[in-house]
Amino acid sequence: MGCRTLCFGLSCILFAYYISAPIPENVEEIWKVRALDALIKITSFTGKWFRCQLSFQSFSCAVCVPSPCFFDSANHCSLQATLFENIGLMKYEEVFSTLVKLDITKPVSDQNITVTDTTFSGIPVRLYLPKRKSERQRRAVIYLHGGAFVIGSCKNSPYDLLNRETANKLDAVVVGVDFRQPPQYYFPAAIEDILSAVKFFLQDKILERYRVDPTRICITGDSSGGTLAAAVTQLLKNDPVFKNKIKAQALIYPFLQILDSFTPSHQEYKHGPLLTRDIAIKMVCLYLTRDEALPQATNKNQHMPQESRHLFKLVNWSTFLPDKYKKNYIYTEPILGRLDVSYPALLDSRLSPLLVNDSQLQKLPLTYIITCQHDILRDDGLIYVTRLQNVGVNVVHDHIEDGIHGALSLISPRFYLLLGIRIKDKYINWLEENL
Ligand SMILES: *[C@@H]1O[C@H](CO)[C@@H](O)[C@H](O)[C@H]1NC(C)=O
Ligand SMILES: *[C@@H]1O[C@H](CO)[C@@H](O)[C@H](O)[C@H]1NC(C)=O
Ligand SMILES: *[C@@H]1O[C@H](CO)[C@@H](O)[C@H](O)[C@H]1NC(C)=O
Repeated sequence: MGCRTLCFGLSCILFAYYISAPIPENVEEIWKVRALDALIKITSFTGKWFRCQLSFQSFSCAVCVPSPCFFDSANHCSLQATLFENIGLMKYEEVFSTLVKLDITKPVSDQNITVTDTTFSGIPVRLYLPKRKSERQRRAVIYLHGGAFVIGSCKNSPYDLLNRETANKLDAVVVGVDFRQPPQYYFPAAIEDILSAVKFFLQDKILERYRVDPTRICITGDSSGGTLAAAVTQLLKNDPVFKNKIKAQALIYPFLQILDSFTPSHQEYKHGPLLTRDIAIKMVCLYLTRDEALPQATNKNQHMPQESRHLFKLVNWSTFLPDKYKKNYIYTEPILGRLDVSYPALLDSRLSPLLVNDSQLQKLPLTYIITCQHDILRDDGLIYVTRLQNVGVNVVHDHIEDGIHGALSLISPRFYLLLGIRIKDKYINWLEENL
């Protein structure tokens, strides 16, 4: 009882503290965003907190550290990071993971769409099949969900809503794919799962079974799902059996490279809103390893090995970012070779799709990219747009000036974030007109 009161009291203090974090002024429904931002930060905090089982040490740590910088808003997140490090437990992804698991929906069919959970070559998928009788073969969309590679499922309510509506509006077959995640399975388990599910679906006999038009198939995803969609599209376009079966890719605020964690957007939006640089780095590193040395080095942008020097030209924001996004940020050459352990994944285009060279890039299909202004991942998307355009790929780019990362995950009735609804509508309209 005493503990609960203590927790509640502490949460109130934290909420009051985080709610004062700066949020860009042009953001729509700013108080809703503010509250969500504060809740996410508290979740991160309490994740830590519960793991400590309210030990006295963590309590004193939590209470004493915030007070000196209570009014210094720029310190919000570095403070949070300090707290995490001081308490010495980094399990907040488990708290998010638990919350997200509570949000799993059942496969519920409605008057227009039959929804079923099944497997494609052993990989769990959720299938949305229109009920309407149709003379023509249907379009198909393969959706890969976000969640920083570590959390989430295509069965979470925002994705279920999105995929259902896509199937309904486009009269299309939609496939949501789930894939293995850390801490049980690390990179490249996720991409291997997706590739086998997608290749299963793309077989002629399976496409025929679902009456899918093999010339009108799109691979799409948001955030880390955008990474996976971009990577899978690249892999299929290099595969003689499948290269003609992908008409388009749609990437919603995708993560596209781990090489440079000091892009202008990384610096400008490191405290969020919603996605902080600290959390993003920790989660992405967790996709590769539990070793804390990797996120620590990545935070300082000193995580890449010596032999990666030649790859930096592929992600150089100084070359590829339009001037208006560079502001006064100065490009600095990376410091290499500081990590003792080397992770081959850091050089792998399945984690950083920006790492493919121009001749590979040229093979890519029609591409739709949504970037958000107030998003640490903004520059990844912008660099991909430039590189694709440079080699003549047909790219449609929507930049959302008041956009924030993760908005699409907040479209269910519980949050109903208008920005998320706008992104959903843009995405579905683009597919309707281009697929
Ligand atoms: C089914 O489709 C009709 C016609 O497009 C639409 O008016 C109706 O809202 C749809 N029902 C659901 C549950 O989405
Ligand atoms: C990045 O681009 C800038 C300017 O275009 C150039 O000066 C710098 O050498 C490049 N660095 C790398 C690693 O490609
Ligand atoms: C581009 O990358 C592919 C695959 O890694 C390689 O086979 C090819 O030689 C490279 N092309 C150029 C021009 O570097």
